Amino acid sequence: DASAEDLGERIVRAKAELGDRVVVLGHHYQRVEVVEHADYIGDSFMLAKAAQNHPEAEAIVFCGVHFMAETADLLSTPDQSVILPNLAAGCSMADMADIDQVEDCWEQLTELLGDEPDADGRVPVIPVTYMNSSAAIKGFCGRNGGIVCTSSNAEVVLEWAFERGQRVLFFPDQHLGRNTALTMGIGLEAMPLWNPARPLGNNSPDTLEDSQVILWQGFCSVHKRFTPAQIAKARLDHPEVRVIVHPECPAETVAAADESGSTAYITKAIAEASEPTTFAIGTEINLVQRLAAEHPEHTIFCLDPVVCPCSTMYRIHPGYVAWVLESLLEGQVINQISVDAEVAEDARVSLERMLAAKP
Ligand code: 13P
Ligand code: SF4
Repeated sequence: DASAEDLGERIVRAKAELGDRVVVLGHHYQRVEVVEHADYIGDSFMLAKAAQNHPEAEAIVFCGVHFMAETADLLSTPDQSVILPNLAAGCSMADMADIDQVEDCWEQLTELLGDEPDADGRVPVIPVTYMNSSAAIKGFCGRNGGIVCTSSNAEVVLEWAFERGQRVLFFPDQHLGRNTALTMGIGLEAMPLWNPARPLGNNSPDTLEDSQVILWQGFCSVHKRFTPAQIAKARLDHPEVRVIVHPECPAETVAAADESGSTAYITKAIAEASEPTTFAIGTEINLVQRLAAEHPEHTIFCLDPVVCPCSTMYRIHPGYVAWVLESLLEGQVINQISVDAEVAEDARVSLERMLAAKP
């Protein structure tokens, strides 16, 4: 409609006038009217690196959610400002790991497991946080010998952790943790779930001592909706279908799919398919719809028949993007995300470990 067109024009005009002064980053789950203005469209890992690679820009406008903008702030230079166009764009999964609960969990685990390394010099437990977590949680990992992972490097990061620790405490997403550990041959019986509201996460001391990956009880409300029944139906309707799901989906859904991978993996798999193919995708609807529009040679549909957008990603309306860019032109930085200096120092340690684990 006319107003959407108008907003698009305002964004284009402001961006052209700002030139190299601004870099716009767009996560794959953003709507078309937003990503069409992004200098980089990518998954969390790619966008974190893009944020680090533009020291010349005075501002980074992050069209994504709060933890992504925090990460960009951690990786950019101190005189750059990172802007989240709508401050209400959070992530419900990231909010499931509260720093006080995580500190409390760590205290209980350290008391139970001690801090003595084994004969190979591996400490009892290494904390690993998914990128989808607050800077405070990343800082906790930095302080305690831990590391950050994304959905595109979780296995490499868990290998890094097992070189240094006998066990991993993985948060906030139980599904990414479980799916990655299963891929590495770790059995479900060695993956207790930690319920932060209960003593010892509701586990017996023996279960925790025998564990390999302790999974925090978090999840993504978008991805937990994908089920093996939806996959069975897709296979019935389209016998040749290729099913790809995100590793934030439950393990039984990943097991029923043909492949699983990050948003970057899904995008690449579709772009590289040489034959016209039918794809059933288990991830956020904005990405699936965009891929379908970009690849008319394939048939691409979302596994969930009920449209399932990430409601917080969707809070980045193009109106906010136009507003923050035009404000920059007037010398005003609006909706800046700035991580507290003390937290930032520790959080950078865990992010740098991740970036060094996989370039
Ligand atoms: P990736 O883009 O890293 O696959 O992450 C998906 C996601 O849920 C981001 O919030
Ligand atoms: Fe968070 Fe899930 Fe939305 Fe990603 S898709 S931002 S994990 S709620």
